[in-house]
Amino acid sequence: MSGRTRVEDGRVRIRAREPGDAAAIVEVLRAIVADGRGAVMRPEDVPDAARYRERLQESEGELGLVLELDGELVAEGAVSRFGGALIRHVGLLSMGVHPSAQGLGLGRRMLEALVEGAAHQGVGRLELYVRADNARARRLYESSGFELEGIRRRFVRLEDGTELDDCIYVRFLD
Ligand SMILES: CC(C)(COP(=O)(O)OP(=O)(O)OC[C@H]1O[C@@H](n2cnc3c(N)ncnc32)[C@H](O)[C@@H]1OP(=O)(O)O)[C@@H](O)C(=O)NCCC(=O)NCCS
Repeated sequence: MSGRTRVEDGRVRIRAREPGDAAAIVEVLRAIVADGRGAVMRPEDVPDAARYRERLQESEGELGLVLELDGELVAEGAVSRFGGALIRHVGLLSMGVHPSAQGLGLGRRMLEALVEGAAHQGVGRLELYVRADNARARRLYESSGFELEGIRRRFVRLEDGTELDDCIYVRFLD
């Protein structure tokens, strides 16, 4: 979009996440939750690095990527597969960019890498959930081939009692 900086390819590296990334990923998640926009957790819900490391070890085999900008981990994303044999082709995408690095085109790159990785793993139906008031994320997904499939009404309840709708987006990869 006009007016925003886009960083050069040479400064960006997207790679598979490793258990050793846990502390840096937790930092990204904490910053996103503290920022508030788009979050569905409270800061205290973000696991600590040790617990997150265990989770990463347990979820080996799941598609998980991190993005480094000038060598610093600033974004993470994953596609988790559903469990049942008949819904194994369904993947749930989640991603986040550190607030200090948002608006630079990194989210779009991470999204492209996750979609490519999911297709490679045989995901046919890729879905994601996003708060209805998260206009930035919705613009990104809608311009990347995701279609709004449904609205979960009053799905999110903020600390002050305000209720927000949540959107289900889907993109078919096969
Ligand atoms: C949503 C999120 C992943 C987008 O990543 P990002 O790096 O900020 O976005 P990008 O710079 O790649 O921009 C992608 C698109 O988002 C939209 N966008 C980005 N910055 C924007 C801004 N300041 N104003 C309006 N739209 C914006 C645009 O549509 C943009 O596409 P374009 O650059 O081709 O016009 C990131 O902002 C984020 O992590 N937010 C908090 C957590 C979250 O909402 N996660 C997603 C929930 S599933």
